[in-house]
Amino acid sequence: MSIIRKFKLDYDWKEFVRELDELFPLDIYEEHIEYPNPLGIFYHNITEEYFPQHLREAIERSIGYPIKKKGWMWDWRCQTTELLEHVDTLKAAHHTGISDWDKVVFEDEPSKFGRPPLTVNIAMENDAHLYVYNNEACEYEHCIYGPGDIVVFNNNTQKHGVFVLNEPDVIPRRALNCYLDLDELFDTQHEFWKQPTENVPWPIITTKLIARKDKNNKFEASQKVPLQTEYSFNDMAYLDTPEAYPMFERQADIIIEKQCKGIVDMGCRHGPVIEILHAKGYTDFQYLGIDTSKEPIELAQEKWKDYHNIEFRRGSWEDADVLHVDFDVDQVIWSGVLLYRPDDHYEFFDKITRDTYNSPNAIIQEPQLEQRHWKAGLELNTIADKMKQYQTAYKKFTEYHYDLEIFAGRRLVVDVTL
Ligand SMILES: C[S@@+](CC[C@H](N)C(=O)[O-])C[C@H]1O[C@@H](n2cnc3c(N)ncnc32)[C@H](O)[C@@H]1O
Repeated sequence: MSIIRKFKLDYDWKEFVRELDELFPLDIYEEHIEYPNPLGIFYHNITEEYFPQHLREAIERSIGYPIKKKGWMWDWRCQTTELLEHVDTLKAAHHTGISDWDKVVFEDEPSKFGRPPLTVNIAMENDAHLYVYNNEACEYEHCIYGPGDIVVFNNNTQKHGVFVLNEPDVIPRRALNCYLDLDELFDTQHEFWKQPTENVPWPIITTKLIARKDKNNKFEASQKVPLQTEYSFNDMAYLDTPEAYPMFERQADIIIEKQCKGIVDMGCRHGPVIEILHAKGYTDFQYLGIDTSKEPIELAQEKWKDYHNIEFRRGSWEDADVLHVDFDVDQVIWSGVLLYRPDDHYEFFDKITRDTYNSPNAIIQEPQLEQRHWKAGLELNTIADKMKQYQTAYKKFTEYHYDLEIFAGRRLVVDVTL
């Protein structure tokens, strides 16, 4: 069972925008500084009597259910890049007190006080990413939606958040909220929830929101992707999906093509590449995987314990003892790890690949600077656009470009011949 459903708006969304723009011009929108948007948010709540009925009907037609007649929250022109994760209970969502509007939405029937209705969000001109915690499955569901899409999600006690994808400055952040409040749809086993929503594999990134003012004295938010030395297995599970597979398969294919026999994998997690090599029948090699993260290393040690040619070692690439091997190395894998060293990635790569291992080959995998599945304002140390030195220093530098349906799916894989 899913808790998110996605529909197409049964109306020309550009016309929808035009009609609403005419009725509700920009200057009526007010800034609200409130949880869950600490940077402030502009919205204007339109009440039932002012909302064009034919547009309401278009939404109902698209979902197949009547929307709540009282207390619509029409966040038209909502100017925000992010709604932080929150639960829609009166207590949790409205720290600053209960407004009259809250009362209408939440207190429709006194007996149901506090039951938030199901949210219906109609995206007009933004691409956004919604994530909702499924309390029953104990995992997050994700959904990316864009112009003319409607998402309905069960937010009754579920934590959820939304953020704008990519360019917050050029995409008008318009979204329209209204609600479903039907007893039958609160049943998580209802037919309505059976259809799975497409889910772009996405990690849970706990970032620190840094608020700063831009040149126009407006607040903008930026968030640094934390690069950790300790991850749980699930933190990176988005990389173990079929959607991410091609960039690891390419690494395996390079190894097979070059018939590499001595492989060192820097920051290896659980070594997804050796699984692919085995699946392709390529098993005659020595392998050392190094990673500081305990859980993936322990899981890999258990999985490959009967293979004497495969070793997983917990430790840092900074430590010479950890790097030591007794076999000749002819391939060093640097998959998603050089970004840990934005200032000296080349020197570090060269020192280990050439000086420590004297390896004739290396594979580099890095996220590209420009991303499609990305969160606006998120900052990542990518080095994919700073690889000139590699191109001039080594014999061959063959690039493979990917645009995968995962978080930061634009990836570069390079086959380096030293
Ligand atoms: C972005 S992940 C990439 C994992 C894997 N290579 C892949 O492509 O799926 C980076 C990995 O580097 C590991 N790591 C970070 N610092 C490290 C260090 N100093 N020594 C070894 N591993 C490290 C992290 O634990 C993490 O598993």
